[in-house]
Amino acid sequence: MTVRACVTGQPVTYSRSPLLHGYWLKAYGIDGAYEREEVPPEMAADFYRSLAARGYAGCNVTLPNKEIAFSVLDEADESAAALGAANTLWLDGGKLHGASTDGYGFIANLDASAPGWDGARNCALVVGAGGASRAVVHALVGRGFDRVVLANRTLERAETVASLFGPRVRPLAFDRIAEVMGEADILVNCTSLGMKGSDPLALDLTRLRQEAVVSDIVYVPLMTPLLKAASAAGFRTVDGLGMLLHQGVPGFRRWFGVTPEVTPELRAVLVDDLRA
Ligand code: ATR
Repeated sequence: MTVRACVTGQPVTYSRSPLLHGYWLKAYGIDGAYEREEVPPEMAADFYRSLAARGYAGCNVTLPNKEIAFSVLDEADESAAALGAANTLWLDGGKLHGASTDGYGFIANLDASAPGWDGARNCALVVGAGGASRAVVHALVGRGFDRVVLANRTLERAETVASLFGPRVRPLAFDRIAEVMGEADILVNCTSLGMKGSDPLALDLTRLRQEAVVSDIVYVPLMTPLLKAASAAGFRTVDGLGMLLHQGVPGFRRWFGVTPEVTPELRAVLVDDLRA
C-alpha cells in the first residue's frame, strides 16, 4: 500500500518539501507519496487530529500552524516541547507524535558542511529573535555552547527568547554586536535580512576570529550579501539550503522507514529549482 505524507500550512504553494521528499522516494524506490495540503490555521487542529482518517502516515507543518500542531500532539519530543512548536508529525501506535526538526537540520548541516564548526564551543552569536532563531538557539545550547549571545534589533524580543533557555543564552542589542564579535566560534543570521528583495544584514566582520564560521538560514539567494562578504574575507561559510535538506531527514525516516541521505546530487536538484 502506498504510504502517504504531506506538507501542510498556508501557503504551501512555495514549499520545497515535495521536491525534497519526492526525490528521496524515487531514489530509494519506495511506494510512497508526498503531497501538498493547504491548511488554514482555523482548520489546522482538526486536520492534524484526523491525519490517520485522511490516510496519512504523517506530515510536515509549516507557517502558520507549528504551534497549533504542537497543541494537539499526544507525544512531543524534547525539541518540540522546548519550542512549543512542531514541524514534523507522525502516527505511531494510534498516537500523534511531533518533533521540531529545524534545530537538528541546522546542526546536521554544519557538521556535514563545515566540520569543526563548533570550535571550543565557547560562544555562538545569533542575530535575530523570530521563530527560526528559537530553534537555532535551542540547538546550539543542546550542542553544549557555554554562551549563546542573541542579538536583535528589538532587545525585548531577544530577552523573551533568552528567558526560555536559562543563563547560557544572553540577549544583546543589535547595535552592540561588535562587543562580542571577537569571541564567537560561529555567527548565524536568523533574521530575514539578505533574503531576495530585502536589505542585506550589514555587519562589520573585521573583529571575527579567522577560524569562525559564518552561517545564514536564508537560502534565497544561496549566497546572501553576508555570506559573500564573509567568504571574501576568508571565513568558512555555510548557506541555509543544507538546513532545509537535513531537517527533512527525521520525518522521512518516520513515515517511510528509510534514513535518507543528503547528497550533492540532491542539493543540485534543489539549487536548480531555486534558480528556476
Ligand atoms: P521568523 O519567525 O521567520 O524568524 P520574524 O519573526 O519575522 O521571522 O523575525 C524576523 C527577524 O528579523 C527579527 O529578529 C527581526 O528583528 P525585530 O525583532 O527587531 O523585528 C529581524 N529583522 C527584520 N528586519 C530587520 C532590520 N531591518 N534590521 C534588523 N533586524 C531586522
